[in-house]
Amino acid sequence: MTAKPSARIYQGTLRNLRFLARKLQQGEIVAVPSETVYGLAGNALNARACRKIFTAKGRPSTDPLIVHIHSLRQLQDVAVINPAALLLAKKFWPGPLTLILPKREVVPDTVTAGLPSVAVRMPSDPLFRRLLKLCGLPLAAPSANPFGYVSPTTAAHVHHGLGLQIDHILDGGPTKIGLESTIVDLRQPAHPRLLRPGAISARELSRTLGVAVRPGLKGTGDSKQAQIAPGSLQRHYSPHARVVLHRRLSLRQAAKGDPADAWLFLQRPPGPARRHLYWFDVAGTAPAIARKLFAMLRQLDHAGYQRIHVELMPGTGLAEAINDRLRRAAAKG
Ligand code: TXA
Ligand code: MG
Repeated sequence: MTAKPSARIYQGTLRNLRFLARKLQQGEIVAVPSETVYGLAGNALNARACRKIFTAKGRPSTDPLIVHIHSLRQLQDVAVINPAALLLAKKFWPGPLTLILPKREVVPDTVTAGLPSVAVRMPSDPLFRRLLKLCGLPLAAPSANPFGYVSPTTAAHVHHGLGLQIDHILDGGPTKIGLESTIVDLRQPAHPRLLRPGAISARELSRTLGVAVRPGLKGTGDSKQAQIAPGSLQRHYSPHARVVLHRRLSLRQAAKGDPADAWLFLQRPPGPARRHLYWFDVAGTAPAIARKLFAMLRQLDHAGYQRIHVELMPGTGLAEAINDRLRRAAAKG
């Protein structure tokens, strides 16, 4: 048996985009850039194509996929819309917001894990948009990482995790936001629920809707529960190293640590650079931290640390989304 050659990385030329659009139309799967994280895309209307996504990721079939669209017409094709959905779509799309709505019959059960609802998002990344337009299909895409590992924010991350499982990776450079989309459940438009925090905050959503968007069911870490309240698996986005959360890190603590410990500050700590001392960003602003979060966890993981000590981010909005990912990275098995 000959081993499968590893995935090819394509730059976003028109020729390559046309080629990849054809592959998607033929039921193949393609890793694509988005403004949040890289996704692993397949024709959302083709159950066989979507099964390939689950297989490549090692994702349990109980965890539903997000359907990516290019136009509001495609939203109508896959979901039953309501005025609240239209308000949010008009204000935040294309962008990092996923809406949960009742699904239409054309969407196979494979995509929604048998649920009567579907997750939909219109991404803003220019290459992803061009690909969606060229192939003319809604594309189901979860993050392009092996199930449970940290989401990829570069084509190289995708290649590292799934290079042997897939054939095609479209390179759109490092992702702009770095965290997965905000997910809001609009099945009951008068009672919108936040299922996953992201770059668009619950407060912004509430302001646009004119009703408070409250947190949805919290995960229990149990995958059976995750099917009832998908998007809530506790252990997710985890590096192999143990992530230890701190309200604040001090240089004194770091100096006492052993060489298997990495110390990851939000911003550059005072004094000279030292071994095992890392920071996300010189100034520690939330957008910069979000952008670097997953790449940093990967880097320290690959460096062989056993423990990554990291500071939680004070504040609301994007800081809450950052802390959500840090908590999930730190949650145990
Ligand atoms: O930014 C993103 O959302 C990225 C890019 C590629 O679009 N995608 C992403 O997909 O993060 P994934 O599969 O890693 O996370 C999708 C989440 C899952 O937690 C899943 O349970 C939830 O969306 N989800 C999908 N369909 C759902 C549904 N019908 N009801 C509730 N949650 C759903
Ligand atoms: Mg994911």
